[in-house]
Amino acid sequence: MKKTLLTLTAIILCSTLVSADEGMWIPALLQRNEADMQAMGMKITADDIFSINHSSMKDAVVLFGGGCTAEIVSDQGLLLTNHHCGFDWIQKHSTIEHDYLTDGFWAMTLEEELPCPGLTAKMLRYMEDVTDKVLVGITDQTTDDERAKIIAENIKNIKESAQKDNKYKVTIESFYIGNQYFLMYNEIFDDIRMVGAPPSNIGKFGGDTDNWVWPRHTGDFSIFRIYKDGKPYKPDYHFTISLKGVQEGDFTFVFGYPARTNEYLPAVAVDQEANVVYPVVVDLRTQILDIYNKYQEKDPKVRLQYASKHAGLGNGWKKWMGVIEGIRNFNGIEKKKAFEEAYINWCQETRARMKYMHALRDFDPVYEEYEKYRMATTYLTEAGLSIELLDFAANFAKLAEVTKDTPQEEIDEQINDLRQATTVFFKDYYQPIDEEVALTMLTAYRANQPEDFRPEILNEIDKKFKGDVKAYVDYLFGKTILTSEEKVNKFLDEFKPSKVKKLAKDPAVVAVNSMMDFYVENVMPKSRECNTKINNLRRVYMEGQMKMIPEVYPEKRLYPDANFTLRVTYGKVGGFKPKDAVTYGYFTTLDGIMQKENPDIYDYVVTDRLHELYDAKDYGRYADKDGTMHVAFIAGNHTTGGNSGSPILNAEGKLLGLNFDRTWEGTMSDLIYDPSICKNISVDIRYVLFLIDKYAGCTRLIDEMTIDE
Ligand code: ARG
Ligand code: GLU
Repeated sequence: MKKTLLTLTAIILCSTLVSADEGMWIPALLQRNEADMQAMGMKITADDIFSINHSSMKDAVVLFGGGCTAEIVSDQGLLLTNHHCGFDWIQKHSTIEHDYLTDGFWAMTLEEELPCPGLTAKMLRYMEDVTDKVLVGITDQTTDDERAKIIAENIKNIKESAQKDNKYKVTIESFYIGNQYFLMYNEIFDDIRMVGAPPSNIGKFGGDTDNWVWPRHTGDFSIFRIYKDGKPYKPDYHFTISLKGVQEGDFTFVFGYPARTNEYLPAVAVDQEANVVYPVVVDLRTQILDIYNKYQEKDPKVRLQYASKHAGLGNGWKKWMGVIEGIRNFNGIEKKKAFEEAYINWCQETRARMKYMHALRDFDPVYEEYEKYRMATTYLTEAGLSIELLDFAANFAKLAEVTKDTPQEEIDEQINDLRQATTVFFKDYYQPIDEEVALTMLTAYRANQPEDFRPEILNEIDKKFKGDVKAYVDYLFGKTILTSEEKVNKFLDEFKPSKVKKLAKDPAVVAVNSMMDFYVENVMPKSRECNTKINNLRRVYMEGQMKMIPEVYPEKRLYPDANFTLRVTYGKVGGFKPKDAVTYGYFTTLDGIMQKENPDIYDYVVTDRLHELYDAKDYGRYADKDGTMHVAFIAGNHTTGGNSGSPILNAEGKLLGLNFDRTWEGTMSDLIYDPSICKNISVDIRYVLFLIDKYAGCTRLIDEMTIDE
């Protein structure tokens, strides 16, 4: 009877647990997926995608900067990534006179390509399973503390010996929450230059309004180049571009660097995330973004200054709204709970599985305790530190501790760093925005954190300002020297240790110190403690799931959560039904851009040049066979943040487009994946080439690509 019940729950759960599209696969183990991928339509082999014996596609995929993916598309190291991935660099190279964000940028010769000091590209050369070596010395009796120490020591040794005489940079990454370890050999390129970017009204068409949303019409690409020894890099592999486009049901795969997913969390954690933390973050960011919008609309200079900040805050803000809704509509918590019931039943079948059951049950009290600290951290980062003045002031905290015994060299170094931080800060600072943000954020911080979780500075508002936050904000911005670039630079020029007192008394430094001190003393230690407990439980719970799932759900293949390592995911092109009575098609066209056009709204402006090409239907070989210009398409690939810029490839491994987003209804896929609504959005490579070629006339780039008509 029990057995039948178990199978029955298993069958019901299967529909949510198993799907062809779910999973982010480790490329070195892709052989295991090969048959499945070929059954879905793939015409190449796993070895073509990832091989350590000969050049393969993996040699053309890089981690771009700290958080995106890019791919090599010529034998001269030409890189494609998203516009939003290149955004910071496009902005950095922009001035009011040369506004590349607004007008686009095209290097018409190699010499015009712009260096981006600090930007790197990381390429995985090979990887090797070192789980056994990392876990040497660990037994069932090892305590969690001992375990952490032994592993740290083992990792250090393995890395040291692997690094010796090796030209690549080695790292060891944990998979399945400490149940598997891989040694990675990475080649790091540090001379990356900016080659091209469309104007923002193409590269960011639809702006934050359309962000995360399908149907989408964003030409989200930018172009860079890897240089090595001062010359364009000659890669081992570069992608061939397909001009054939996609049809409903076509096989695709995405190869890139997904950052973080949490698919194996217990229900209690998902509940906390989606129903406690995200709503607060969303609410705080709504208030900040409203203020940004108000000022950005009024002044083009401010719009430019706050463009990147706005995009950064707005991106998470919108995604988390989608997650909250998705988890609710999908009954995510209930489904997790049903799974946990089946898991507990499985644990109860033998004595040896008791530890797996305890791991699951022990989450509840830890998460309950964790919540307070989690919220305290959230208010600190989302409310306190989103006051730009305070975030800037945090840079000065160290200087405020200088004594007459501090070596001059150290002081000089600090002053130097602070000078740079000062230039960066003031380039994009607009005080009226910050004052309003300070007022709303401090009000929210004070109102929503219990007394024993308020940094002293918030209590001072009560004591010294009778609870009048506005009066405090006026005092803060009136008294600090950190809102004036001139004053800050003068202070740095004339700095000597005897001036430290003045700095330490600056109200902005006082405020941020109060918040940071409170955090370091009262929040961080407890928060860390909870986190360690949670991670230990998650490791055991993961181990339990790795044993239980193959037994109870034999058709489901496990994959490790995203951890910023190279992964392959695959799925089919196709539309979906996001809600009752609504059906989404799988591609968008230039017609849709014209439908969305609105000359009065910055994000929906269409340039004359694009109009001309559209009116003349001058699409050349980039037109679809239906005669239109396809802009974007969706498919069932399991992607997440970090996959931006990833190549989306066809059955032959040829480039179809660049992944840049997910559909809003499916953003919960970082926690729970539902194949019916979780889709990735890519810009069609034909639109990208059309823009480079016809729109910008940068044909030298087209000439160096390998294009399959
Ligand atoms: N949502 C995409 C991602 O997570 C794109 C973000 C940039 N685009 C934007 N309109 N803010 O990165
Ligand atoms: N835009 C995201 C990125 O920057 C990809 C979208 C997603 O989260 O899937 O990586």
